[in-house]
Amino acid sequence: MSTTLTLIQGDITEQTVDAVVNAANSSLLGGGGVDGAIHRRGGPDILDACRALRAGHYGRGLPTGQAVATTAGRLPARWVIHTVGPVHSSTEDRSALLASCYTESLRAAAQLGARTVAFPAISTGVYRWPLADAARTAVATVRAALATTPDAFDEIRFVVFDDRARTAYEAALAED
Ligand code: APR
Repeated sequence: MSTTLTLIQGDITEQTVDAVVNAANSSLLGGGGVDGAIHRRGGPDILDACRALRAGHYGRGLPTGQAVATTAGRLPARWVIHTVGPVHSSTEDRSALLASCYTESLRAAAQLGARTVAFPAISTGVYRWPLADAARTAVATVRAALATTPDAFDEIRFVVFDDRARTAYEAALAED
């Protein structure tokens, strides 16, 4: 059975899935938006795991476009996959880095054996990426990744926080 793509408007910390993707920053030590909500609701175990990553392989932080998994702490999930989106630039096309957040997060999820994955609208908040373009990149990148492994997951869930984002993702999902 091929993977279902779903769209939900709500709080990503309330999603009962195997893996929740966090719109983190390179420090992996928390922040606002999705990052703040995940650490607040997930509890200190997530930050402890992130600190261990910084003390080990990610001594210089998680590079933009890469992804790494930790425990999900008290979230209704098994793992958090932290990924660092690019800050939007009007002079430099960083689309490949945004796409990489999705492909690398899916790679990490598959390695964990996660069957359901929830993504926020990466880079569309503090990192100011225009919603329409971010939604198109998210949907096109996930669809392309699944085209090669159609049964890699049961569900990939896009979780948006407001009406504007929902409209953008609905439009992106309606495109072929
Ligand atoms: N659930 C789902 N979506 C949310 C939630 C939530 N609880 N909170 C915010 N969002 C939405 C925002 O409305 C936005 O559309 O997630 C999208 C991403 O916004 P940010 O969380 O600001 O992430 P990003 O733009 O990638 O910026 C990352 O912000 O929080 C800091 O530490 C983080 O430095 C990093 C930067």
